Amino acid sequence: MSNLVVRQIDFDVDHARFIWNPDNPSFSVLMNQITFFVVGFEKYMCRVMRDAEALITDPAVMDEAVAFRKQEAIHAQKHLRHARALIAQYPALQNVLDNVLESYEAVYAAHPLEYHLAYAGGLEAIFTPFFKMILDHRAVLFQSGDAQVASLFIWHFCEEIEHRSSAYDVYNHVVGSHWYRIRHTGTFQKHTRDLFDMIKLEFAAYVQDVPANAYSDNPFARIPVLAQVKSALGVLASQLPWHDSVNQPLPAYYSEWLGHWQAGTDVSQIIGKPQPPVLSD
Ligand SMILES: [Fe+2]
Ligand SMILES: [Fe+2]
Repeated sequence: MSNLVVRQIDFDVDHARFIWNPDNPSFSVLMNQITFFVVGFEKYMCRVMRDAEALITDPAVMDEAVAFRKQEAIHAQKHLRHARALIAQYPALQNVLDNVLESYEAVYAAHPLEYHLAYAGGLEAIFTPFFKMILDHRAVLFQSGDAQVASLFIWHFCEEIEHRSSAYDVYNHVVGSHWYRIRHTGTFQKHTRDLFDMIKLEFAAYVQDVPANAYSDNPFARIPVLAQVKSALGVLASQLPWHDSVNQPLPAYYSEWLGHWQAGTDVSQIIGKPQPPVLSD
């Protein structure tokens, strides 16, 4: 049986501000980029997992694939709600979302299932070292931000840690060739990077009532350089053929967050500042 838990949490992000953490505008922008990216990426992964499920012969891998797909579907749903809140304030941002969705449609149409599974497994492997850095430094990155938005990202990143090996395991079961995955790593990393760049450029074009340098500052400027270097090395190592996606250094906060969830704590506002209600005229 899979250990993954499919959680439905109500993050009320309908009135989220674009700069949801005024103490760190460039980090707010980066997380907004993730929101717009994730809607397309997670939908693509759910589609890919459904296709892969027809080929899975091991019941344990099947359990994992199904639970993984359900977690990712909820991620897409919650980030779509966040994206819609931003689109309501800046209608031109609908183009950004459409561009991401179209781009993943094109990738899906252009490549075989092996490629999609390599993309999913490879990118998901990157998330563990990257989100570990973010979760390890959550206080400085999230604490002064909107609690619902901050807690949505914290939940998503914890679930990424939880299912860190799922896509990789499905790839290994259905495709199995390390070299096929590694041969294509550059291509899918470029696709992801290009989307992130496009999203930021469009943000900068359409959302201009932001503090100076919101689009140019390093979002991680407050994180020690050593932690940034460790994370970058972890990202590189995650693509190597002998990478062990299960036994990675994990953020201590993952178990802490899980403990809160299991104890019934309201994790929709587990970090950050509650926002005052929005007054309509
Ligand atoms: Fe996700
Ligand atoms: Fe994921």
